[in-house]
Amino acid sequence: MRIEEKIIVALDLETSDEAMDIVLKLEGHANFFKIGLGLLAKGGLDLAMELKEKNKSIFLDLKLFDIQNTIEKAVKNLSSLGVDFITVHGDPQVVRAAIMGRETPKTKILAVTFLTSLDRKDLDQNLIKYGKLPNLVEKRAEIAVRAGADGIIASPQEIKLLRKNVPCSKKLIVTPGVRPKNAKLYDQKRVSTPSQAILDGADHIVVGRPIYKSKNPLESYLSIASEIADVKSKN
Ligand code: C5P
Repeated sequence: MRIEEKIIVALDLETSDEAMDIVLKLEGHANFFKIGLGLLAKGGLDLAMELKEKNKSIFLDLKLFDIQNTIEKAVKNLSSLGVDFITVHGDPQVVRAAIMGRETPKTKILAVTFLTSLDRKDLDQNLIKYGKLPNLVEKRAEIAVRAGADGIIASPQEIKLLRKNVPCSKKLIVTPGVRPKNAKLYDQKRVSTPSQAILDGADHIVVGRPIYKSKNPLESYLSIASEIADVKSKN
């Protein structure tokens, strides 16, 4: 896989115009972009279509969760846009409906296990059964994969665990919470460097603010790309 396919740039900007501005600054280098809920009411889906027309890869991070009928229809219509990744919650009913709904297996369905913003106390409040968070993440990932998910969204702490788990080991692992050394963390707590995430087994890393908030987004992107290239050349 080429480096520009490994780095997914999260376009968490205020408007699609601002997001497009970042895409243009990275033109000729970055090729994979993530559009999330924040941009939805500001032309996010039009932006996804426009970028697809320019042959970019698109990750629609909408973390869908609903009854099967609704998920099936939502995923059918979203995958008809030609997007590459769509996220859904990892409940097996939701994953199965997403797989049923997608128009083409080229649209990969990625499952979210537990949001990384949740800790054990939050899970108690949500009536999630007792157990250590990493064990629950692993179990939930396994259930999602058995239901047909093509991959899992995993925090840097979870990559190794999932790479060792059958049946998750051979699936796509996509990892946010990535920060180059000395980069500002913002609200991410448990982070990993781009090279470490790739060494641990991530197929793709998702990086947002270290790129789009940088004074020179292209320079920041290229420095992440060269860090990954170093790892790949040594392995
Ligand atoms: O700006 P930053 O690099 O922290 O962006 C990370 C992106 O990954 C954001 O779009 C965020 O919503 C997303 N994400 C995350 N943690 C998860 C799932 C998604 O940070 N567990």
